[in-house]
Amino acid sequence: MAIKHFLQLSDFTLDEFNYVMERARIIKRRFKEYQTYHPLLDRTLVMIFEKNSTRTRLSFEAGMHQLGGAAIYLNTRDSQLGRGEPVEDAGQVISRMCDIIMIRTFGQDIIERFAANSRVPVINGLTNEHHPCQVFADVFTYIEHRGSIKGKTVAWVGDANNMLYSWVQAAQIFDFHLTISTPKGYEADEARLPVSRTNFTFFDHPGDACQGADLINTDVWTSMGYEDENVARLKAFAGWMVDSEKMARARPDALFMHCLPAHRGEEVSADVIDGPQSVVWDEAENRLHIQKALLEYLVIGKVTEPG
Ligand code: CP
Ligand code: NVA
Repeated sequence: MAIKHFLQLSDFTLDEFNYVMERARIIKRRFKEYQTYHPLLDRTLVMIFEKNSTRTRLSFEAGMHQLGGAAIYLNTRDSQLGRGEPVEDAGQVISRMCDIIMIRTFGQDIIERFAANSRVPVINGLTNEHHPCQVFADVFTYIEHRGSIKGKTVAWVGDANNMLYSWVQAAQIFDFHLTISTPKGYEADEARLPVSRTNFTFFDHPGDACQGADLINTDVWTSMGYEDENVARLKAFAGWMVDSEKMARARPDALFMHCLPAHRGEEVSADVIDGPQSVVWDEAENRLHIQKALLEYLVIGKVTEPG
């Protein structure tokens, strides 16, 4: 049977997302009640980081421990991955010694080549092209606060980066509308957008993308790996800061999200990210609960035990 990976959101069906979210609700409640739950006893997660991380490392490592398993951290600085060992060989070797693997790397092609050579499931912990764990946790967070996301309007204000492309996939899977505003020269790559545009509207002016939105989303203007472009980006993105004026164009009960880390005074003003509509800390916490449910699903499949 083919191994199930989670390399981008489109790898899962809506039914699978709904199942994993239901498990996440149960696992979260148990965690809050200090209940021991060890379905992954004696199982091992290997985490490979080729870029920095706080939330992703912490949530996967803590999550695996909380599920009764162990997590091993590898990075390119002190493993053979940084010395040119072929990705295919690394996939073969690492996957013979553990039950599941999480990778944060550069190109999506790297994680795909690794997964093609892996005997165990591989999870994308962020690539240049996608950040599926974050957007899954964000959709879960929206539903926790406001109920179903189906039919809602989600605004994306800022860079056409990994987060946006995962939101594009989420819009199709969960059937909501995505309004997108990116500065000139930083637009989404047409080739990476779906042929059917029924779930998307593009706006030249960021405020217009926020009009009537149920959720406003942004992210850093310079993602990891693009630091050389920082000066040019600061200039190009001026005007794309999510501030109280843009929030005022959304629905009164609109939420604000940011995957973090954030730069106050660049992509978001301090009064918005620290204000009452912001759910950024819930998004961060939900990485833990969603990923624990994802680890459980990918390692042992569907469970039937009572909630
Ligand atoms: N949002 C997120 O993935 O954060 P880290 O880069 O800290 O893992
Ligand atoms: N778009 C950002 C997300 C960080 C979690 C980056 O790739 O750096």
